[in-house]
Amino acid sequence: MDLSLLFADGGQAVQDLSTFHPASPSAESIRNLSILILAITGFIFIVVEGVLIHSIIRFRQRRALETVEPPQVYGSQPIEIAWTVAPALIVMVIVLVTIRTLWEVNVKPPEEKPGDNALFVTVVGRQWWWEFDYDHYNGRPLGFVTANELHIPASEEGVPRPVYLTLKSADVCHSFWVPRLAGKTDLIPGRTNQMWFQTSERGLFLGQCAEFCGPQHANMLLRVVVDSPQEFQNWLENQQRPAVEDVALRDGKAAFLAQSCVNCHRVRGTRSQGGYAPDLTHLMSRQTLGSGMIPNNSDGKNLREWIANPQVIKPECLMPAFGLTDRDRNRIVDYLRTLR
Ligand code: CUA
Repeated sequence: MDLSLLFADGGQAVQDLSTFHPASPSAESIRNLSILILAITGFIFIVVEGVLIHSIIRFRQRRALETVEPPQVYGSQPIEIAWTVAPALIVMVIVLVTIRTLWEVNVKPPEEKPGDNALFVTVVGRQWWWEFDYDHYNGRPLGFVTANELHIPASEEGVPRPVYLTLKSADVCHSFWVPRLAGKTDLIPGRTNQMWFQTSERGLFLGQCAEFCGPQHANMLLRVVVDSPQEFQNWLENQQRPAVEDVALRDGKAAFLAQSCVNCHRVRGTRSQGGYAPDLTHLMSRQTLGSGMIPNNSDGKNLREWIANPQVIKPECLMPAFGLTDRDRNRIVDYLRTLR
């Protein structure tokens, strides 16, 4: 495989993944807590190390044969009270600010209602990609599924557009983490977790699975695209439509439907209704393939390589190489490239 595939970033500049540069209220709460804890523990570190270094220098053995033992002090009540009360107070402060942060971060999702400008999405963690089930926006049911790239609307002055995620897992434990938007939240089999964020900063936010989930854990990448409200509306309308029908590519579609692709993938509006692998209805509206691994370029070059052998690009992923003939593969890629 062409090595440049692995390092290509679709022409984007290096992304900011710093938790100290938050773009959402919940990430900001976590940043503030981190700075406070760092300040408190940093102060304690400097005091303790300062006293230690001072003692080492001031009370070092000066002559080779020191015979007089220094005075031994036992049982000073004021000192004992001081070093019990001071740490207890510090711990108390840390507990209180941590509870306040948890309060700010763990917002219980409200009921969806018309005019709430809120987006509700169910995220399902899978080895090794993200399924996004779009549930509601602004009180309207959506009911489509996409993968790996979460589009959300930007908040505007006076119009917050919060995003509430319901997190589940289809296999093992994963963890949803977009550092600039919110803290990590685990996706645990048999359990449902919630998280929320909102941002007025448009553009791409990168994240990644933050809980070891198997050999391709490090390649379970995440992209959150924050669109303007109008762009988001257009994106929603496109995603809600069934797959486009291009009569010129009837052969390609037939080739696709004849293969076992249909057992795992779904293309809405066709008989390909698998629910086990990424929904391909609007495959070409996504910027990457393999959960953020390689650019999904419009010429279909990477898509062709992916289909030829996904195991070269993402070893042990659940999609096998099907050993298609070149002719079939080209026809299938030509068909998939029309799924915008
Ligand atoms: Cu999913 Cu690590």
